Amino acid sequence: MRHFTQVSDVGNLDLLIQEALLYKADPFRDQQKGKFKRIGMLFLNPSMRTRLSSQIAAQQLGMESVVFNAGADGWKLEFADGAVMNGDTVEHIKDAAPIFGQYFDILCVRTFPTLTNKAQDDAEFILQQFIRYAQIPVVSLESATLHPLQSLTDIITIEEIWRAKAIINRKPRVVLTWAPHVKALPQCVANSFAEWVLAWGKADFVITHPEQYELNTRYTQGATITHDQQEALAGADFVYVKNWSAYNDYGQVHCTDPSWMLTAAALQQTNQARVMHCLPVRRNVELSDEVMDSPSSAITQQAGNRVWAAQAVFSQILNTLT
Ligand code: CP
Repeated sequence: MRHFTQVSDVGNLDLLIQEALLYKADPFRDQQKGKFKRIGMLFLNPSMRTRLSSQIAAQQLGMESVVFNAGADGWKLEFADGAVMNGDTVEHIKDAAPIFGQYFDILCVRTFPTLTNKAQDDAEFILQQFIRYAQIPVVSLESATLHPLQSLTDIITIEEIWRAKAIINRKPRVVLTWAPHVKALPQCVANSFAEWVLAWGKADFVITHPEQYELNTRYTQGATITHDQQEALAGADFVYVKNWSAYNDYGQVHCTDPSWMLTAAALQQTNQARVMHCLPVRRNVELSDEVMDSPSSAITQQAGNRVWAAQAVFSQILNTLT
């Protein structure tokens, strides 16, 4: 694996999951592997879990990590080709990215979508320029359309919970449900979760959302999609809760209906489902306190697994470096 930006970058997903679980069992088993390698982590947008888990993962592989809050502390970057830079942008990506390529062995980047320029976001305009100009392996820490480290974590979490149940005569029913929010959020986590669950292929996968919240079909081919949340939740083993803004009417909010919030009553119709969310979560908007604070929640376990996902990915990229 050279870059890690989407599920198709992964050669063998089962092996990557197993590698992550081996790191969970023995975090320092490869503590010399990244010795004398340096990983740069650029944040153009805020983060808590991705930033901390990626740093811990790098450290456990013996790598030095340098975190740069490029959005807050760096020069404002220009990405447009041929731009006349007489406005507020100070440094062109063509000039900055090759320098990251000189300083680091691996470059990690977090960037969010505009939610106004659909074509630009769909083309991963910003992430692709880091890949083009840095000329070193690039890891997405969430991009305009996807959040692959989160999704790898999500699959690891489902796999370890399902394995512990030792149910072998059927696949788990995994439901991704839209939830209300006070802001227009990206589709990244939902797109990415759909892409990874479908590539994993070991679940019956259902997506439920209100009308006008269809995701990009690029990521959802093979999923069952319904606007009826109750129907979707019936018999669910895992319920992944997430808000996203509209994709077709790009970035718009069409529904704030609080009945879409996941409550303990809604969970009753599931198969004692474990509840997942990528965090941060708006309590009592997306998910009720009673669910968040109940044994149904797998959310802390899920966030803890961010470390092992990042460690497995960095480890596979280190395999390709001299
Ligand atoms: N889930 C997730 O990516 O969290 P952060 O935004 O805090 O990194």
